Amino acid sequence: MKVIPVLDNGQLDMDVYAQLLNEKVKIVAVNHISNALGTINPVEKIIGMAHEHGIPVLIDGAQATPHMEVDVQALDADFYVFSGHKVFGPTGIGILYGKEKWLNAMPPYQGGGEMISRVSFEKTTYNELPFKFEAGTPDIAGVIGLGAAIEYLQGLDMEAVREYEHQLLIYATEQLSTIEGIRFIGTASEKASVVSFLIEGLHPYDVGAILDKLGIAVRTGHHCAQPLMDRFGIPGTVRASMAFYNTFEEIDALVNGVKKAIDLLK
Ligand SMILES: Cc1ncc(COP(=O)(O)O)c(C=O)c1O
Repeated sequence: MKVIPVLDNGQLDMDVYAQLLNEKVKIVAVNHISNALGTINPVEKIIGMAHEHGIPVLIDGAQATPHMEVDVQALDADFYVFSGHKVFGPTGIGILYGKEKWLNAMPPYQGGGEMISRVSFEKTTYNELPFKFEAGTPDIAGVIGLGAAIEYLQGLDMEAVREYEHQLLIYATEQLSTIEGIRFIGTASEKASVVSFLIEGLHPYDVGAILDKLGIAVRTGHHCAQPLMDRFGIPGTVRASMAFYNTFEEIDALVNGVKKAIDLLK
């Protein structure tokens, strides 16, 4: 596995990425948006560059789909994945989009009902797409819930959502910047409404515990991205992730909460 390095501001190092692409690369996999830093990666460019070498690309869109409209065909993504619970739907279910040519070329990864077309002891023929990959009785309730969540999102004006969330990001960054000893991790020029930070001398878990007591939901720790934390030489961050239902008053509450945490812990 070769890793695309991350620059100090949280953007991918596209010069190194260009150098990494060669005939030995089987697949490129990147986040559309970083859950830990909020960086919006230039996925269209990443896909285009990989395709120049005939390399397929998988985009993890778990953090992008709640924040923006995604057109997998316009992106020309070979695979695009996201989780149900990130688009306000059920847990334990998600979407794997793949181009037919790749899915047809891939063997089933699980055996069970519906994934076969004909079975005998001599020979088994697998069912066509998508059944080949849907062994066993599916999560029917989950699919109905996920469908409802996607329909709900499709009913929103995602351009307006993006603009509003961007204003929340600007406000949160400005207001948090007034706190002495704050260090932002992830300052890319293209960011989703995610603010990851550390307070000098305080562990993110302690800050998070106090914010939690104040009724402010942030996530603390390594955000399932330990190599990224190692890259920045930190144990983790405090991360506030804002969505279209959040308000400017809630950002004020976050800022006041962080100040209270500092008063109590220092
Ligand atoms: C970018 C990204 N990919 C994958 C995941 C994991 O998704 P799941 O919990 O559905 O496995 C998350 C968050 O949980 C995420 O932020």
